Formats: sequence, structure tokens, C-alpha cells
Amino acid sequence: MTKKIIVLTGDRPTGPLHLGHYVGSLLNRIELQDKYKQFVMLADIQALTDNMANPHKIRDNILDVVLDYLAVGIDPTKTTIFLQSMIPEIAELAILYGNFVTLNRLKRNPTVKTEIQQKGYGDSVTVGFLTYPIHQAADITLFKGTLIPVGEDQLPIIEQTNEIVRAFNNAYATDILHAAKPLISRVARLPGIDGKAKMSKSLHNAIFLSDSADTVNKKVMQMYTDPNHIRVEDPGKIECNTVFTYLDAFGTDTTTIAQMKEHYQHGGLGDVKVKRYLADVLNGMLEPLRQRRAVFAQDQQAVMACVQSGTHNARAVARETMAEVRHVLGLNYF
Ligand code: TRP
Repeated sequence: MTKKIIVLTGDRPTGPLHLGHYVGSLLNRIELQDKYKQFVMLADIQALTDNMANPHKIRDNILDVVLDYLAVGIDPTKTTIFLQSMIPEIAELAILYGNFVTLNRLKRNPTVKTEIQQKGYGDSVTVGFLTYPIHQAADITLFKGTLIPVGEDQLPIIEQTNEIVRAFNNAYATDILHAAKPLISRVARLPGIDGKAKMSKSLHNAIFLSDSADTVNKKVMQMYTDPNHIRVEDPGKIECNTVFTYLDAFGTDTTTIAQMKEHYQHGGLGDVKVKRYLADVLNGMLEPLRQRRAVFAQDQQAVMACVQSGTHNARAVARETMAEVRHVLGLNYF
């Protein structure tokens, strides 16, 4: 029997969503919601793993992230949007999964390793942070998510999830847990405007979906290009040139972009001109989002009501899976 495809993803509500989220998974979600059952999680508990001193910051971002979802076209009548912290079964399941994962395995998880480095935690990393991949495995499997639209950086977490699925199913000779397949977007990893690593709020290199046209213009003007392209007449490099990376990611007029690349490499095309073009491309794309966002923002209660009913529906699914897990382990006493 082929298993039903269930899409599950989430975001840490540590700030408003940015262009990296947009190409990394939001575009895929908009498409997938028409084909499959889809859950989108506001991963507030995961966000707390590095924001425990600041829980209200996370809370305050929830509405903004939901507005971003609605603005891009995630439709709550098709997609179940829910709050992680209101599903205690996730924590319950994660505790059990902890017994299938070694400390060494967690320390070797490349995603977590990079984050520990970026945040400078070293050996002072908390248990909560180090173990968030286990918690994420619970996010995914509790809803029997089989298709996970994520950015490239999340691949090691999906891999770890599947190790847990195999270990659990093997240990209890069951098939209640379903393996998850990542769905990587066309643009696997968008660099920040500084040209580094990936776009991220904490690295201060993000363009947010809710940025005004003016802010977008300013950020684009600061973007990293070819540091050796000093005079307009000089030939410039398009490799590792963030402006061209973004044009490839967001531009639709491929003929014009190809011409600009050639002109730039040949010499005679200035950075400012290319940046102005990119800013227009981005603002053209973001303008309809801004307008939709403004409409939804007028009724915040209705927006939060969507999340409440999504959470209610998600909880029912969570309870069902947790009952199955308890049954398998003989934890169904009364
Ligand atoms: N770790 C993901 C991120 O940082 C967010 C997330 C939490 C997630 N739970 C998830 C993604 C479950 C996919 C599936 O972007």
C-alpha cells in the first residue's frame, strides 16, 4: 500500500520571514497545498532553544509570521497552520525519541554543528539546543509528514529523523512511523545581502517580505558584488556576485538578465545599474504581498482565529499518533 503524502514544514518565529524563506520553502508550500494535506508549524518551542531569555520576542513574532504566510498565499482553508507550543504530544514524543539518539550523533549533526559555531556556544551549548533535531523529528513524525519542503541546511535533520523512524519501527516491529522525504527548492540556499552563508535575521543580512520598497532599495544598494569591479569599464565577475545570484533566483526576464551578465563580464555595466534593476524586480514581486498583508493585518483577530482552529485540528492528529505510540510501547494503562 502506498502511503498518503502529507506535507509538514515549519519556521522558527524569531523574526519576520525573508527572501530566503520565500525561495527556500514558501514557494513550494503554495504549490503543495493544492495537491496534498499540508501542515505548517510555527515552531515557537524550537525558537526558544536559543531565545530562552526572551520568550516574549517569540510570542510577538507569531502574528507577523502568520501574516507573512497569508501574504504569500498560504491558504488556511487548504493548509493547517498551527502553534508548536500548543501541541504537548510533540514534547512527549521527543522524550521517547531521545532514547534512540546518542549524544555523539547529535554533536555530529552538521546543521547543529554549524549553528553552534555561528552562535559561539562551544561546550556551553544547552541540552535544549543540542537536542532540537530530536524535537524536530517528533514534529515531523507526529503528523506522519512524508514530504518536507525545506532549505538545504535542513537535510541533516531530516536524515536524523529517518534514523529515528527506522530505529523505532525496528525496535517494536511496527510501521506506525513514516519516513520523511525532503523537498529542496530550485534555489537551495540564498546568500545574505553580504554575500555570506545564508540569509538569516540573526546574521543581519536579510531582506524581509514585509520590508518597504524604500528599505528594499537601500538593502539592495548595500549588496555584495564583485569587490574588484571598481570602475564601470572594468570587467566584472558574476560568480559569487550576490546581485546576480538574486537575479537568477527572482528575475523572470531571463533574456535581459543574460544580456546584463554578458555586459557586466565584458565591462561597461555598473553595479548601481544592476542593483536598480534587481530592486525593481524584488519590489515588483513583493508589492502584491505587501498589499495582501495590509488587508489581513486589518483583522488580527481573524488571523489568530485561523491559527487557533489550525492548532485545534493539528492537536487531534497529534493525539491519534501519540495513542498509537503509547499502544506500541504498552504505555496505554487506562
Ligand atoms: N528547523 C526549521 C528551520 O530552522 C524549522 C522547523 C521546525 C521545521 N520544525 C520543523 C522544518 C519541521 C520542517 C519540519 O527552518
